[in-house]
Amino acid sequence: MERILVTGGAGFIGANFVRYVIAHSQASIVVVDALTYAGNPESLRGLPADRVQLRIGDITDATLVDELVGEVDAVVHFAAESHNDNSLHDPAPFLNTNIVGTYTLLEAVRRHDVRFHHISTDEVYGDLELDDPARFTETTPYNPSSPYSSTKAASDLLVRAWVRSFGVRATLSNCSNNYGPYQHVEKFIPRQITNILNGERPKLYGSGANVRDWIHVDDHSSAVWEILQRGEVGRTYLIGADGEKNNREVLETILDLLGEDRDAFDSVADRPGHDLRYAIDAGTLRKELGWRPQHQDLAAGLAQTIAWYRENRWWWEPSKRQTEDRYVLQEQAHQLAAAAEGPGR
Ligand code: NAD
Ligand code: TYD
Repeated sequence: MERILVTGGAGFIGANFVRYVIAHSQASIVVVDALTYAGNPESLRGLPADRVQLRIGDITDATLVDELVGEVDAVVHFAAESHNDNSLHDPAPFLNTNIVGTYTLLEAVRRHDVRFHHISTDEVYGDLELDDPARFTETTPYNPSSPYSSTKAASDLLVRAWVRSFGVRATLSNCSNNYGPYQHVEKFIPRQITNILNGERPKLYGSGANVRDWIHVDDHSSAVWEILQRGEVGRTYLIGADGEKNNREVLETILDLLGEDRDAFDSVADRPGHDLRYAIDAGTLRKELGWRPQHQDLAAGLAQTIAWYRENRWWWEPSKRQTEDRYVLQEQAHQLAAAAEGPGR
């Protein structure tokens, strides 16, 4: 593959994927990104200009998408509205980008017969009980809980339909929770790290018993790169690195690593509809493509991530205040809604 279009390449996982491909191949990359609040062109800083080009634009713009897709050998589709909390307060952009955006890309790859890889999440499967030994597999039924995960589920189903009905050469992957550098400070791990670096207390939703299956973003990138080159068209691959931890444990590790007391955090209102547990069985990817994660020590990965946020304040500071202000507004809206519903409901 010589030329790849990466949608959402100025976002967290997209930018890390672009860095991964540049380091591990000869391919050149066109990034298309609308630079929403979550996109940051600085995440692509330092990459070779003769191999990485940024086109600012929206994936729902059919004319632009058709032009860009017509110039490449493959599309890797990361662009999305990605934050559950935001989707609970304003679902509209999630429907537009995640569903209409994916549809727009599918029509273009269909017209140009271009290989397509769709990035999705394990959240499409809903959640598991805390004490259930089961994990998600490729055949787990879809059962999304939030506006975010339901729009991702819709986009996955569109991709599957375009494979079956129109012969689009697409693969899909559903990955667990990523962490690492360049992640927006709205997300759990960077929010807590940057709160502590700013002398503010971390915020834990509810009891902190909810479990996420953490994977380092570089392991996600290596898996996607394998699937793009050797995956079977039409197939869905689950990506995960056996990294289950509850939120309280993760937060305590962050507090330890930053030399704070383990109870130096605020317990805040729980997220409505908060999924209890996610867990991925990535056996197929390991068996069929021989993929192995390289960063399974979560404490070591968190230490490296903390070091990155400490050394790169310039990258996250401009969005920190605005993000925390948004959380305050969301909390107020939540309280007003709860008061309007009244007691006993
Ligand atoms: P992110 O929010 O950090 O980045 C999303 C990027 O998409 C941003 O650069 C944004 O500007 C861009 N974008 C948004 N709307 C756009 C539009 N209409 N047109 C063009 N660009 C647009 O998200 P992320 O965490 O990097 O997630 C990337 C993908 O990976 C998403 O599809 C998400 O569902 C999936 N995913 C994320 C995780 C995770 O833990 N973050 C886990 C599994 C799967
Ligand atoms: P998040 O990073 O938003 O990812 P997701 O919703 O995709 O799992 O949240 C990860 C977990 O952390 C989730 O269970 C919600 C919880 N959480 C907190 O406890 N405090 C926070 O400030 C945030 C943002 C999330």
